[in-house]
Amino acid sequence: MPERGFIEVDRVEKVFDVRRRTGFLRREVRRVRAVDSISFTVARGEMVGYIGPNGAGKSTTVKMLTGILTPSGGRLRVAGIDPSRERTRLAHRIGVVFGQRTTLWWDLPLIDSYRLMHRMYRIPDARYRENLDRLVELLDLGALLDVPVRQLSLGQRMRGDIVAALLHDPEVLYLDEPTIGLDTVSKARVREFLRELNTERGTTVLLTTHDLQDIEQLCSRVMVIDHGRMVYDGALTGLHEVGGAERTLVVDLERELPPIDAGPAARVVKVDGPRQWLAFPASESAAPLVARIAAAYPLLDLSVREPDIEAVIARVLSVTGGAPEPPAERETVVPGAPSS
Ligand SMILES: Nc1ncnc2c1ncn2[C@@H]1O[C@H](COP(=O)(O)OP(=O)(O)OP(=O)(O)O)[C@@H](O)[C@H]1O
Ligand SMILES: [Mg+2]
Repeated sequence: MPERGFIEVDRVEKVFDVRRRTGFLRREVRRVRAVDSISFTVARGEMVGYIGPNGAGKSTTVKMLTGILTPSGGRLRVAGIDPSRERTRLAHRIGVVFGQRTTLWWDLPLIDSYRLMHRMYRIPDARYRENLDRLVELLDLGALLDVPVRQLSLGQRMRGDIVAALLHDPEVLYLDEPTIGLDTVSKARVREFLRELNTERGTTVLLTTHDLQDIEQLCSRVMVIDHGRMVYDGALTGLHEVGGAERTLVVDLERELPPIDAGPAARVVKVDGPRQWLAFPASESAAPLVARIAAAYPLLDLSVREPDIEAVIARVLSVTGGAPEPPAERETVVPGAPSS
């Protein structure tokens, strides 16, 4: 049977009814449409970024894709399985990493969590050994296997969680903020690992992040969600073009000089002593600009700052006019009955 999409999401909705006390014997039910009729498909082997501002509905989507939450409407399939109806069967085929939480046993040494997963997922012994060795080496966790999870640093724990999610060879990996709070070196290591996992093992990856560099370095396709609605699905370069986002080149000169003339490609937006900030379109490469400045100015140092993901999204929304204000029906206040 031909596979349309490995992940199929068709007009999926999730509505939360949040109860709130407003006085003695009085409560209000606030209806939040966390995911509001979203549709997309992801092919096997794709690596897709899923981004959006706080509260946009990203984690809610991921939770529905794992079966933790049941959609209020629409149709959802992962590997042909309806996640909320066959959560256990699906669990053998997916891996999940929630950057803000851990699936590891807090008080146990790392290796004990893996042993428990070995049994929970009934991973054949040889495969478990092989996967464990490979993953531990790739993520450099060898020296930490006997350390209780609560003693690990955030970056170490995150790498530990990634290993845990992959021991059973899942076909798809959902990552919800896997680089949150990590230092540059750990981020680079995690990204490198994910790239390899995707290209060499063909693992399908859905990556939620607030770090645009994660997306830039890993995903050719990005989906943007805002207020529960899909506002963009396409190439990252396209997102930059739609959003007109700019990157910033920070230049340290040997001495104070008048604003750099970098031609039409960039403009100086700030000067502070020998340091100057130049804005240029995020869809362009920095290389020609750097070459041009290096040829004409006494340079000490350079760095490129990525546009803030929220700024890019805000621009996209203002251009496309997509899901701007929370629509009137999105948060409905229903006067509730007295507490029962
Ligand atoms: N269990 C829940 N009960 C009630 N409301 C919820 C629940 N989970 C999420 N929400 C609400 O649904 C909306 C979407 O939340 P979600 O966690 O999916 O956002 P997010 O895109 O992951 O945001 P962030 O970038 O902050 O992680 C928010 O308004 C949130 O308050
Ligand atoms: Mg979230």
